[in-house]
Amino acid sequence: MQTITASDITIVDLGLADTVEAQRLSSQESWPHRVEDWQFLLDISQGVGAIRDGKLVGTAVLTPYGNTAATCNMIIVDPALRGLGLGRRLIERLLEQAGGREYRLIATQSGLPLYEKLGFVATGRIRQHQGLVKAVAATAEVSEATHDNLADLIALDKAALGLDRSALMAKLIAEKPFLLLRDQNGLRGFAASRPFGRGYILGPLVARDDEAYRILLNASIKRHEGEFLRIDLTEAAAGDAALVEAAGLVHVGGGIAMTRPGAEGVDVAGEARVYALASQALC
Ligand SMILES: CC(C)(COP(=O)(O)OP(=O)(O)OC[C@H]1O[C@@H](n2cnc3c(N)ncnc32)[C@H](O)[C@@H]1OP(=O)(O)O)[C@@H](O)C(=O)NCCC(=O)NCCS
Repeated sequence: MQTITASDITIVDLGLADTVEAQRLSSQESWPHRVEDWQFLLDISQGVGAIRDGKLVGTAVLTPYGNTAATCNMIIVDPALRGLGLGRRLIERLLEQAGGREYRLIATQSGLPLYEKLGFVATGRIRQHQGLVKAVAATAEVSEATHDNLADLIALDKAALGLDRSALMAKLIAEKPFLLLRDQNGLRGFAASRPFGRGYILGPLVARDDEAYRILLNASIKRHEGEFLRIDLTEAAAGDAALVEAAGLVHVGGGIAMTRPGAEGVDVAGEARVYALASQALC
């Protein structure tokens, strides 16, 4: 049997030209990302790839949120090359480049041992639901977000997560439906959706209270009647997935939310909560 050594594999920066090959790797894992989903991610991220014999055999992506935090995502090693230290090499390269930030990620069972060794600790569970959306009852009044709302949306997102996701929010506002709910005190919550994988993904859904979550969830699901929809619910929503299930979105698994604290603490104002992720990659 041929022995593979570290010198057979080179680590390169991942660019938009690599998205077709990267999509091949993620589809090997039965992940639903289209080439467009890789492009969406790499537009606001930096990635590294492992090359062997001219072929992409591994990926790792880091999405910076401001100067103090980032998510790590799309960490994949070709099945034939696992257990040789390549996953660790890729992620360590990313962390070196990005400095002493706080890192967050959603781990699969397969990634868990690697992340624990790198100092990540579990902070919660994510429930992934998906399916063809059935007809749902009409809903309370919500409105469509516009670019004029962007600063308020970024501020509420930051209050919930402690992260500055301006670049992501600026991309999401161009997608539809992006719904918001207001009251006399201002923005009560928002729910973004965008094309993703086999259909659409609903999230982030951020709200000041559970009732706002339910209103936004219902209104967003209604806009997707007849379409394939995915939603990744956080623990804030976990006890309240009845509407999601009634709409035909079946629980199909999930992941483990993990954090590795940075040099600077990340402030979570706590005035709002994240009920659904932008995606497992983007948290
Ligand atoms: C997760 C994944 C990237 C790991 O890649 P890899 O190249 O096999 O990992 P490495 O060989 O670098 O292993 C890193 C460390 O984790 C440990 N490890 C990896 N898989 C392990 C397992 N299943 N059980 C126990 N330890 C494990 C290794 O022993 C190693 O420890 P060490 O550096 O102290 O020796 C790879 O399994 C993969 O692509 N999985 C499918 C995609 C996926 O789920 N990615 C994670 C997304 S969150």
